[in-house]
Amino acid sequence: MTKTASQLQLNDHGELIHLLTLDGLPKEHILKILDTAGQFVAVSDSDREIKKVPLLRGKNVFNLFFENSTRTRTTFEIAAKRLSADVINLDIQTSSTAKGETVLDTIDNLVAMQADIFTVRHSQSGAPAEIAAHVPKHVHIINAGDGTNQHPTQGLLDMYTMRHYKQDFTKIKVAIIGDIVHSRVAKSNIAALKTLGCQEIRAIGPESLLPQDLNVMGVKIYNNIEEGLRDVDVVMTLRIQKERMEAHQIPQGDEFFKHWGLTQERLQLAKPDAIVMHPGPMNREVEIASEVADGKQAVILQQVTFGIAIRMAVMSLVAS
Ligand code: NCD
Repeated sequence: MTKTASQLQLNDHGELIHLLTLDGLPKEHILKILDTAGQFVAVSDSDREIKKVPLLRGKNVFNLFFENSTRTRTTFEIAAKRLSADVINLDIQTSSTAKGETVLDTIDNLVAMQADIFTVRHSQSGAPAEIAAHVPKHVHIINAGDGTNQHPTQGLLDMYTMRHYKQDFTKIKVAIIGDIVHSRVAKSNIAALKTLGCQEIRAIGPESLLPQDLNVMGVKIYNNIEEGLRDVDVVMTLRIQKERMEAHQIPQGDEFFKHWGLTQERLQLAKPDAIVMHPGPMNREVEIASEVADGKQAVILQQVTFGIAIRMAVMSLVAS
């Protein structure tokens, strides 16, 4: 019987050997990753002269990004270097997959070059799990975003950020606004928030951009942004994932901003100390007003910095 992604990522002793999904990842693993990241935040401190630790010395990390990325690929690279690994970034546009080689054949060749860890981003949902099922035991796969499915390291850095600012998940209300149906970030966040016992998860957006099964997942649906934002502790905005949509589904920028854009006025409906998050890349004046993005409640750049420590934690834990 083929194993699911959440089964594949743990070995027979329940240890984390790949990170493929936050859906079904036990709470103790999530907390272990967040706590380990906490230790690495200190290593990443800009005042510290030597930012490196030797945990992955002699290991080869291959970044395989079949889709564009700035933050995720770069922070994986920085994280691997801070763990003293050797990092190889594959240029997919000029690689043999572009000549028709299958992804699994490419992987086999890189394993033959002594790869230890692959970070994989692919437009096809399930691609990292397929690779995890294929590789030998000593090779570890980290999903860096697959299709509309999951983006577990983003979800974890978002959990880290929420815990940093709000401490207790059982006491916070989190609102996610916008294109949730095409967002792997939202799906990873919802899964982790549920596991961590978040008091209330809200999804705000037009019906066409919200998944059908949100109710089943215990998420409250709001088709009115003002109602949805009332008294929340965390507001997460999302980019419209145009590349994952059919042409007729793509909302126009101005129209979208008018109904669903996070403006300063709307943000005032949330708790006065609410934080504003965005996974990036951000489209100003489409899903978020510039004054909110640059405002004092925004923690968007802190998310990026915490992402390095989270990726260090994940890489060191799967390979240990
Ligand atoms: C997200 C992604 O690629 O899923 N970005 C990211 O990794 N920080 C979100 C997006 O593409 O809008």
